[in-house]
Amino acid sequence: MNSIFLDTLNNKPTSRPPVWFMRQAGRILPSYQKLKKQYSFTEMMQSPELAAKVTLLPIDDLEVDAAILFSDILIVPEALGMGLEFTDKGPLFNNPLTKYESPASHLKKDTKTLEHVYENIKKVIETRPKNIPLIGFCGGPLTTFCFMFRGHVRDVSFHDAIKFLYSNPQESMKILEALTELSVEYVRNQAINGIECFQLFETYSGLIPEQMYLEKILPLSKKILNEARNYGLPTIFFPKGFGNGLSYITKDICDFLSVDWQMNLKHARKIISSDIGIQGNIDPRILYSSYTDIEVYLSALKSFGEKNNNWIINLGHGFLPDIDYKKAKFVVEWIKQTNWKR
Ligand code: CP3
Repeated sequence: MNSIFLDTLNNKPTSRPPVWFMRQAGRILPSYQKLKKQYSFTEMMQSPELAAKVTLLPIDDLEVDAAILFSDILIVPEALGMGLEFTDKGPLFNNPLTKYESPASHLKKDTKTLEHVYENIKKVIETRPKNIPLIGFCGGPLTTFCFMFRGHVRDVSFHDAIKFLYSNPQESMKILEALTELSVEYVRNQAINGIECFQLFETYSGLIPEQMYLEKILPLSKKILNEARNYGLPTIFFPKGFGNGLSYITKDICDFLSVDWQMNLKHARKIISSDIGIQGNIDPRILYSSYTDIEVYLSALKSFGEKNNNWIINLGHGFLPDIDYKKAKFVVEWIKQTNWKR
């Protein structure tokens, strides 16, 4: 496949940095909002035709260099018997783990609910424009664990999950290990069905001390990422809020690190191992600014892109739902028409 995105991941020289956006499938696109009037999020996610269509919408509407599968990280705990529902206010489990004395024993693996994802992947591969690679993903163990304890959609502190992690460390490890085992199987099946790159979303790595993440969680994240590698796929790890902990991530964990918007990009390059590429880290809120201010922000990234071939442009976290998609399109156009002097 002739892809600037895959070339960058494989350390081949390219004339410009590739670009895609976290949360590009759905959310901000008027074409998606239109479909949402007709179908629920779950309906779209479970139908190969619709899921493939939404996966590919940003290729047409934003002209990004890669597609990410339209799905969600929470379908992995759903396949452990947690009864997932996407309400208007956000995702909700019918059986949050807070309900149980020893929650690990209530996790019952039933992978039937993941089967549609593999059909969706096949459909994307069948219908995509040529040279557009497909990114598969799943949630990091800590992030997924956090949601599993969330009884209320408005709880974003994940108090119950973190309290459980400290007060029941052994039971917590059982849950984290069950999640990891299923995630490994899930990644394997995504790889077998045709994804070309794998990203692990560990959005809430910053909720616990760096040392604790490195000791308790990172070995599990590594197992999931390594499974993708076993199938020859390049891997991207997004530990949001991990700060200077990024300096401890080594090449045996991932090929690229996705850096969040809190960190200065040059600082990230200084502390991250030189054999690991960087993805990121546009502040998603910049897309609320005027075109002029966005252009000033992007121009400041130019010298970084001239010097660093192993850089994928992306956001430092996903699109916010109320931005104007034309601003995102403008970012892509700017990247494509800039002379990166490579
Ligand atoms: O990047 C993409 O566009 C691919 C699809 C994707 C979705 N969710 C679709 C989605 C991906 C990669 C995710 C990851 C995800 N899901 C994460 C990690 C990344 C991050 O942004 O932090 C997390 C924490 C979730 C859990 C989740 N799913 C929440 C908190 C919500 C509700 C709030 C929101 O984002 O809208 C969802 C629902 C969800 N997942 C939607 C989409 C398009 C919105 C559903 C709708 O249209 O109503």
